[in-house]
Amino acid sequence: MSVHTPNTRKVTTHRLIEMKRRGEKISMLTAYDYSMATLIDKAGIDVILVGDSASNVMAGNVTTLPITLDQMIYHGKSVMRAVNRALVVVDMPFGTYQGNSKEALASAIRIMKETHADCVKMEGGAEIRESIERILCAGIPVMGHLGLTPQSINKFGTYTVRAKEEAEAQKLIEDARLLQEIGCFALVLEKIPADLAKRVAEELTIPVIGIGAGAGVDGQVLVMHDMLGINKDFSPRFLRRYANLHDVIIDAVGNYINDVKSEDFPNESEQY
Ligand code: KIV
Repeated sequence: MSVHTPNTRKVTTHRLIEMKRRGEKISMLTAYDYSMATLIDKAGIDVILVGDSASNVMAGNVTTLPITLDQMIYHGKSVMRAVNRALVVVDMPFGTYQGNSKEALASAIRIMKETHADCVKMEGGAEIRESIERILCAGIPVMGHLGLTPQSINKFGTYTVRAKEEAEAQKLIEDARLLQEIGCFALVLEKIPADLAKRVAEELTIPVIGIGAGAGVDGQVLVMHDMLGINKDFSPRFLRRYANLHDVIIDAVGNYINDVKSEDFPNESEQY
């Protein structure tokens, strides 16, 4: 068994910036419920993302678009009840911040008041500048998210690598600079070429956390269900599986079914 022994001090946005300065890599995973968040916080993860990927892995939707603010708040509250050490980031769901900055601020305030999370994450650059600035003005830390931004899947049309062409790469660099300049404390870069991600991470002073963005960034994030091998159907090149819980769970449940059917369970010591 591999046990990581972390510094038990609560992780803050400032600590992540210090970690980047010291060259200490940041570990981040998603969680959506109390039990899993308890485990990954105990294991010493630095950041827990209550991702809108809950729409896919918890609710079975094809995209992240259907999840609502109320549902994200439910997941955020469940995670916050579990966590002692990690910084907790809650994704602002699709449709709650793109319309106008007043609505964006109201959504972010609901997340912060009702979940008690540490900060929010928002997808996009210059086009949502006003919303990010208004949220930051209210004292709510914002993590940016550029590259493959799943809330825009209907515009992209595919989940393939983003910013391979010069024009899109240039826009991403400018958006990354802008997000730092207006005050985002960190940035997620999803599914872009490793060289581009490294260039952005080297230029910015805020931490850059990658998913499918190579090793030259300041930290890594994965969807917990993917890295634990719960979902076997999703196998992008960037995913490393650290367990095969799909088979472990199916075997365990199969054994339970057999024991019930054969009347092996419960035995005398398992009854009153
Ligand atoms: O919702 C999510 O899980 C995310 C990660 C993929 C970064 O935004």
